Amino acid sequence: MLKYLYLQNFRNYRHLEFRPEGEFLILTGANGTGKSNLLESIFYLGTGYSFRQARDNNLVRFGSNYFVIRGIVSSRGIDYQIEISYRQDKGRKTTKINKKSASPSSCSSYLPVVIFSPQDLMLVKGGPSGRRRFIDLVVGQIKPQHSKDLNYYNNVLLQRNKQLRGSSVSDKQLLPWDQQLASIGGRIWKRRVTTLAQLLDYSSVIFSSLSRERILEGEYISKIYNLNKDDEIGKYQNLFMESLIKVRSRDRRVKSTTVGPHRDDIRLYLNKRDARLFASQGEQRLISLALKIGHYQLLSDERHLEPLLLLDDVFSELDDKHRIFVLESMKKGSQVIATTTTTVKEGSVVKKKLTDDIEMVYQKTF
Ligand SMILES: Nc1ncnc2c1ncn2[C@@H]1O[C@H](COP(=O)(O)OP(=O)(O)O)[C@@H](O)[C@H]1O
Ligand SMILES: [Mg+2]
Repeated sequence: MLKYLYLQNFRNYRHLEFRPEGEFLILTGANGTGKSNLLESIFYLGTGYSFRQARDNNLVRFGSNYFVIRGIVSSRGIDYQIEISYRQDKGRKTTKINKKSASPSSCSSYLPVVIFSPQDLMLVKGGPSGRRRFIDLVVGQIKPQHSKDLNYYNNVLLQRNKQLRGSSVSDKQLLPWDQQLASIGGRIWKRRVTTLAQLLDYSSVIFSSLSRERILEGEYISKIYNLNKDDEIGKYQNLFMESLIKVRSRDRRVKSTTVGPHRDDIRLYLNKRDARLFASQGEQRLISLALKIGHYQLLSDERHLEPLLLLDDVFSELDDKHRIFVLESMKKGSQVIATTTTTVKEGSVVKKKLTDDIEMVYQKTF
């Protein structure tokens, strides 16, 4: 649970202090007032990256050269202070938990976040990288080692690609990079397929209740070999190693590594047909909603806690039936922070100003 947030030079905020109140907090304000920016900073605090795929230097307030995001979160009754700061001139990001240096990926242990945003549609409609990012987020929130492995893998990949860009790199020079990629790649692959299967168990049940008589399925796609989720890590590692050797001449030609988890994908099926190609926009929207509710439920079951749920604009887009469905899918006691441009109906609500342009609206709890 997020108790307090402090922003300095993040996006449009020079300074901001935010104390979320109530279980279901709605931020209202006109377009361009900084509502999504605020959710972006909270998501960043829980993951180390922007859900809008912005680079760190885009997050720095125009004219400034650093940003700070600091939060007090409560996890199982204990308060922690998390801080991520970034300095543009040095290109350096610093993460601290209780003032001690930590890795950005460890933040998800203290602040597990799930976001619903209009971009979710791209999970179904868009290219493979968004789906890889999504599954890696889910895996990393359940198994923090995954994020470390991804960093490690990406560094090795960079090194191998650097070798490939050099002139006439020998097999012998590539071998140590191949071995490391295969070894870490196997662990990444195994966690992804296991977590994807778990996620789809949740999401397909959710999808059937959202959309009667239609079935959602999915599959992990690897160029390496048609692996089964029950296969051992070692099998993937061996096959990946063989592939890397097999594609060496092609890799030299294109000067990059053409196989591996960084090229894998997830295919989603609606009634056995590729949802990316055949599902309607409305069906794709429901699929992405089912994936996100699945993400929330899997995370809360695996970690035995309530993730912080961020709803950016999506609520106003859903009809009443789906809105109620989303809320009923959440665990009691979860913290929800939603944004909307439409004014909230008067009732037993409390309104407070967050900034000149954004109002906080919450139900008073009795
Ligand atoms: N790095 C930045 N520095 C200052 N302002 C920014 C930065 N990035 C975006 N903005 C401003 O933030 C505003 C958009 O905020 P956003 O949170 O997306 O609005 P909304 O309330 O509609 O969700 C825009 O006016 C944009 O100019
Ligand atoms: Mg917005």
